[in-house]
Amino acid sequence: MKNIIILGSTGSIGVQTLEVVEKLSDKFNIKALACGNNIELLKEQIKKFKPEFVCIKDKNKINDIKKEFNNIEIYYGEEGLIKLAQIPDYDILVSATNGIVSVRATLEAIKNKKTVALANKETLVMAGDIVIKEARKNNTDILPIDSEHSAILQCLGKINNPFAKRLWITASGGPFLNNTREEMKKFTVKEALNHPRWSMGKKITVDCATLVNKGLEVIEAHHLYDFDYENIKVVIHPQSIVHSFVEFNDGSFLAQMGVPSMHIPIQYALSYPNRFKGIKSDSFSPFNQKLEFFEPDYEKFPLLKLTIECGKEKGIMPAILNAANEAAVYKFLRGEISFLDIEKIVTKEIEKTNNIQDPGIDEIFEADRLIREKLA
Ligand SMILES: NC(=O)c1ccc[n+]([C@@H]2O[C@H](COP(=O)([O-])OP(=O)(O)OC[C@H]3O[C@@H](n4cnc5c(N)ncnc54)[C@H](OP(=O)(O)O)[C@@H]3O)[C@@H](O)[C@H]2O)c1
Repeated sequence: MKNIIILGSTGSIGVQTLEVVEKLSDKFNIKALACGNNIELLKEQIKKFKPEFVCIKDKNKINDIKKEFNNIEIYYGEEGLIKLAQIPDYDILVSATNGIVSVRATLEAIKNKKTVALANKETLVMAGDIVIKEARKNNTDILPIDSEHSAILQCLGKINNPFAKRLWITASGGPFLNNTREEMKKFTVKEALNHPRWSMGKKITVDCATLVNKGLEVIEAHHLYDFDYENIKVVIHPQSIVHSFVEFNDGSFLAQMGVPSMHIPIQYALSYPNRFKGIKSDSFSPFNQKLEFFEPDYEKFPLLKLTIECGKEKGIMPAILNAANEAAVYKFLRGEISFLDIEKIVTKEIEKTNNIQDPGIDEIFEADRLIREKLA
């Protein structure tokens, strides 16, 4: 039985993680849950999974939970997430909040020598060098939940495979794959949220429409698997059946296939290196599948190129890109700017930034804070 902590239990990844845990309740037990504002859903989760600890964003809501569950320990805020990560007796921390709030807690779980099942993008994008160094020092695994990185791990067989030559990360291309730049100017929030294959949180869905998400995944793959950027390729695959592939020295390509569902990579991160019968067993048939692969159009989606460039520059550049992009995406979601304004805002911030090499975690957070404050 593995004891699990989920940061972001009320979100898209968090809810699906609990579905996996419920299906495999003889193998996984919930030790702690953390969420932001969705206290009603958290209460339902507490009733069902009986965690010993929870953490919420707002201190004022603690009594609301205490009234119904008086023998549960309740923490709050970023400090509360860090306290959860420091609990001695658990096996896996699932890092699945959006944004930067769980980055320090995830680092703390690594220092506590716990396995991290990582969905949160910001952790490796902002602080990849620091996080990976800490994971090596503490001999802990960071197991990806993202379907592409999970596919790569499954093809590699182990995190360091000396015979692998290149990583190929697939991208569905998002809802605007076949539209012109002229048409993209007029895209609405509703259209951007209409992802052709995946059902996800709003912010990541917009990142799929701009292809920023794919650039962030390239940065994550660079850190997770220690590959140079030159050996990580993006390939458009509209069907989202192949979740990524690895090219080996001898010319073999190994791909991982399945239905586009996060349940499979979530379950693999929890069960690694084992495989169990789960929610999505028997969900895919290879008959009559059409598989297409194209090179991405970097001119139509300039943020894909810019995101990868920021990854290559290292320092605070990925954090600046991430913060500017997140601020711009939320402006778009609130109806304050147009779809193509997202790239204008991000590009302007990147052009104005003087990079800092080898920043510490506080410098990265400060760079992030300044951009968010400016673009609020
Ligand atoms: N969704 C996917 O399929 C997918 C795939 C790959 C990677 N990812 C990455 O995984 C992460 C989560 O994505 P998502 O789509 O699941 O996001 P989401 O649906 O927006 O969920 C975010 C979760 O974080 C919680 N949260 C927000 N602020 C918090 C705070 N201050 N303290 C504690 N918890 C807080 C939210 O709580 P409340 O809802 O209670 O406020 C919610 O549980 C993102 O980094 C995303 O890029 C997602």
